Amino acid sequence: MTSAEVYEESAGTAPPGVAQVSLRRTLVPLARDPLGGFERIGRAADGRLARLNLGLTRPYLVTHPDHVQHVLRRPDLYRREGMMWKPLQRLEGDGIAGEGPSWQVSRHILQPMFTARNLGGLFGTMADAVTESLSVLQERAARGREVDLVDEMTAIAHRVLIRVLFSDRITFAEAERLGQAITAAFTSLGSRMLMPFVPDAVPMPGDRPFARAVRTVDELIYPRIRACRAEGSRGDDLVAVLARTVGEDGQLLDDKRVRDDVVSMFVAGTETTGLALTWLWLLLQEHPEVREQVVAEVADVVGDGPAAPQHLPGLVFTRMVLQEALRLYPVGWVVPRTLAQPDELAGTRLSAGTTVLLSPYLTHRVPQFWDEPEAFRPQRFSPDREQRRHRFAYFPFGAGVHQCLGSHFFTVEAQLIVAGMLSRFRPRVAGEVSLRPRATASLRPRQRARMVLDPAA
Ligand code: HEM
Repeated sequence: MTSAEVYEESAGTAPPGVAQVSLRRTLVPLARDPLGGFERIGRAADGRLARLNLGLTRPYLVTHPDHVQHVLRRPDLYRREGMMWKPLQRLEGDGIAGEGPSWQVSRHILQPMFTARNLGGLFGTMADAVTESLSVLQERAARGREVDLVDEMTAIAHRVLIRVLFSDRITFAEAERLGQAITAAFTSLGSRMLMPFVPDAVPMPGDRPFARAVRTVDELIYPRIRACRAEGSRGDDLVAVLARTVGEDGQLLDDKRVRDDVVSMFVAGTETTGLALTWLWLLLQEHPEVREQVVAEVADVVGDGPAAPQHLPGLVFTRMVLQEALRLYPVGWVVPRTLAQPDELAGTRLSAGTTVLLSPYLTHRVPQFWDEPEAFRPQRFSPDREQRRHRFAYFPFGAGVHQCLGSHFFTVEAQLIVAGMLSRFRPRVAGEVSLRPRATASLRPRQRARMVLDPAA
């Protein structure tokens, strides 16, 4: 679709400056290839608002950084409700994954755990968990056996998160079961995400596997919360901190609220990390010149390992590569909001209840802000160039009051994992590499990727 076509359709029906995309041009491409459809619409809108006709809902697609800034700076107006959030809240509740007073309580409690200062004290534990995970991976990958890239990267993320945030309150085997159940719950939410207006009482495909997955999650988490309360734990792990938190009603958070935030943190911090690392290895396979530069940096800074917190300041290029990978493949590819009161955005009057879709995936490709946006160029993130960018042209971790709590956690963890892997192995992706993404709630590779881990030396 060309931008002229979008413009033509806007004549007469859409407000000035808004590209209106018809039902036929929206639903057919979106049903066939949701992300490709969004990409074509985003390209044609070229920074203007685009109004999508999805039949019952007509969300606005927002790609220009100025408009993204407007939305994310007004959380009182643009709220995390409706669309994707309603089904997700069936799994995660409405604490840190929600909105309003209960979100505020959770944010207030969790934020101090993620400050640079507090995390700084945990990097040693994080590095140990990475080293331990890589030893497990080394055993699995012995003698040139192929391993599943997404599964292995996610398994490392599970192990690190439980060591750092749960201080072993959950075993690794339990974390893997929890991860599988959460993935199953996510996958079965598909039709409710597409049709969030269908009441919970109306059965929909995926409801049964969803209920089963939630039962597994609950069976794993509730006993940990009860045990923690029974022992009167003063620990500083996530469960203990939440279990002694006083809520907005002046009472201790009940077990359900603690469970909701524990699950939310697990969801937010593991699949995202596993997928971001997966994209990184796929990109490095496709760009051997960049890979060699990372290998050289790791050899120089870490040697033959293990990677440790004191190596982090030296891993500058590794960090740039991670940032560029998250530009091209931001795992949280869409950030939906619902308008609470009428507002004017980009000169367009929007009514209360309108859905607004922000998409880091699309904004990270607007040519006005990114030269050759499809090219993989870590140099874009060299420290001297970062200052010159529009603050909202790059937001893989969101921005504003809901900005990702784990962005620093992720960056350090990922640097340690990449450096640790390269000091032990020469990872290569087996077979043909496909960088085609599939957009579910997160951005994952369309094809299963397998990795071979040859020894580094
Ligand atoms: C590549 C890794 C990650 C990506 C791409 C990512 C992305 C995001 C995005 C886009 C949001 C904003 C959602 C919104 O505005 O509605 C978010 C929120 C959040 N993230 Fe992350 N995230 C990552 C890793 C992590 C990790 C490792 C953790 C925790 C250990 C974490 C915890 C959270 C939490 C708690 C929120 C909700 C914050 C709030 O609403 O107050 N994330 N993340």
